[in-house]
Amino acid sequence: MKHIAVFTSGGDSPGMNACIRAVVRTALHAGIEKVSGIYRGYQGMIENDFMDMNAGSVSNIIQTGGTILRSARSDAFRTPEGRRQAYENLKAKGIEGIVAIGGDGTFTGANIFMKEYPDLAIVGCPGTIDNDLYGTDYTIGYDTAINTAMAAIDNIKDTANAHGRLFFVEVMGRDAGFIALMSGLATGAEDILVPEFPTDMDKLVKDLEDGFTNKKNSSIVVVAEGDDVGGAFHVAAEVKKRLVTPVEIKVTVLGHVQRGGRPTCMERVRASRMGMEAVNALLAGKRGVMIGEVNHEISFTPFEQAIKHNFEIDPGIMEMIRVLA
Ligand code: F6P
Repeated sequence: MKHIAVFTSGGDSPGMNACIRAVVRTALHAGIEKVSGIYRGYQGMIENDFMDMNAGSVSNIIQTGGTILRSARSDAFRTPEGRRQAYENLKAKGIEGIVAIGGDGTFTGANIFMKEYPDLAIVGCPGTIDNDLYGTDYTIGYDTAINTAMAAIDNIKDTANAHGRLFFVEVMGRDAGFIALMSGLATGAEDILVPEFPTDMDKLVKDLEDGFTNKKNSSIVVVAEGDDVGGAFHVAAEVKKRLVTPVEIKVTVLGHVQRGGRPTCMERVRASRMGMEAVNALLAGKRGVMIGEVNHEISFTPFEQAIKHNFEIDPGIMEMIRVLA
């Protein structure tokens, strides 16, 4: 293999840069002659937005959030014409292998692309703060995002306690509740609402009432944005209607603050490892698989399985919330 390309796609996540760096440096170390970076994911592939990369182009990025290759969600790539254009651009450049860094949308696209053009060799690295890919214990960006959310909720707890208020804090996670679960557990939240389970409003109100009856001065409820009630503002409004204790209610939406920032130590290490293994996988002839880390070992999961969302929240974690809240 003489020429490979790397791109980032979908929602950016901290650690993507560490992964790009590892892909470029591993490829050059292995004797691959040319590495191209594709800007703005599939959109840049269609628009021929490529750049040559060398060891120096990935200097001083391991510690930065975002992605130097930028990212996009491409409508054009959803069309057969868009994918044909992307394929022709790759072929014209002589690209023989591709590392795609992204989440389920990225691998859904890669899967369709490889079915249409079976000579393409694509492997993936899981890049999303949501941790919602099957076949890996951690996605790149998740550890940083939960630490960012935890730090923000810690700050909110200080002021919540000072004023004796009830706070609903909304964290990211349209389809997956992992950020809510971990940040809520780590901050001692009274309740954690996730998309995976329907919210029991009666129980939530009762738990909060019991807390105030037992002289809790303040309370925090962490709500994933994809919760079935409709996010923290809706949950807060519902609770306000029903709560008997006269407590002041506030809502904070953390939003995209969770997507940026300096990656944590383990994020950088895992992203580097996955980037390196992605290139090794391409060289070993693997195609259509996502690199992951399961029980500290590197794993390879076909795109089709990785995007199926057939993972479940560990019942042990739900029990911890019930006992410790
Ligand atoms: O997939 C990662 C994620 O951050 C989700 O948690 C969130 O719902 C979504 O992306 C937000 O996407 P955008 O930045 O396009 O609004």
